[in-house]
Amino acid sequence: MSKRTFVLYSRTGSTVPFKGNLRLAGRLDIVYQCILTSLFASHTIRREVEFHAFLYGRPNPPLHLKVNGAELYDVRIDEDTWRVIINEVLMNKQHAGVSLTKEGIENFVKTVNEKYVLSENGNIIDNMKFNENPVFFLGDHIGLPKKFEGFLEREGAKKVSLGRNKYLAASCIDITNYILDSKSPT
Ligand SMILES: C[S@@+](CC[C@H](N)C(=O)[O-])C[C@H]1O[C@@H](n2cnc3c(N)ncnc32)[C@H](O)[C@@H]1O
Repeated sequence: MSKRTFVLYSRTGSTVPFKGNLRLAGRLDIVYQCILTSLFASHTIRREVEFHAFLYGRPNPPLHLKVNGAELYDVRIDEDTWRVIINEVLMNKQHAGVSLTKEGIENFVKTVNEKYVLSENGNIIDNMKFNENPVFFLGDHIGLPKKFEGFLEREGAKKVSLGRNKYLAASCIDITNYILDSKSPT
């Protein structure tokens, strides 16, 4: 089965357990929104999808949060469910399909073959063909650091555009899932 992977660079996401809501925890609400649009369709989990967030907020960056659709169980789609799950993994507790490790994003990039970076200035997605396991990198509310964009380029990532408008990170994932669904044989 073909896979697809989304990777969010979270510049401010909290790297310790937090009190209060996800937004106040270094905009972890964006991480939640991206989990939602990556992994959930109506009444189903997209088992072929992996989502990764690299958290660069204080005080213990970087952390690698992985949500694997193939192994994800016992979840709902509301923000409070994910506030609890993310906080628990930050406390080193377990949840099926969710893991947290101490790893930086550059290390992860080196393990990936088919790399794309979501960027307004790339090739229009409609004109592109994807192989078995495309991996899409994208930025948070601040956007990808220029230095990291340069690194991705040197590592062979191709830029993919969803058009000239700037969309929310979670919307970019939703649109990409929609387009890849329409390109996939049913
Ligand atoms: C909310 S946007 C970032 C906004 C930020 N202020 C900036 O200037 O980059 C979040 C991410 O979504 C992706 N993105 C937004 N609009 C896009 C588009 N039209 N095509 C491709 N990717 C897009 C980019 O990866 C971007 O870093």
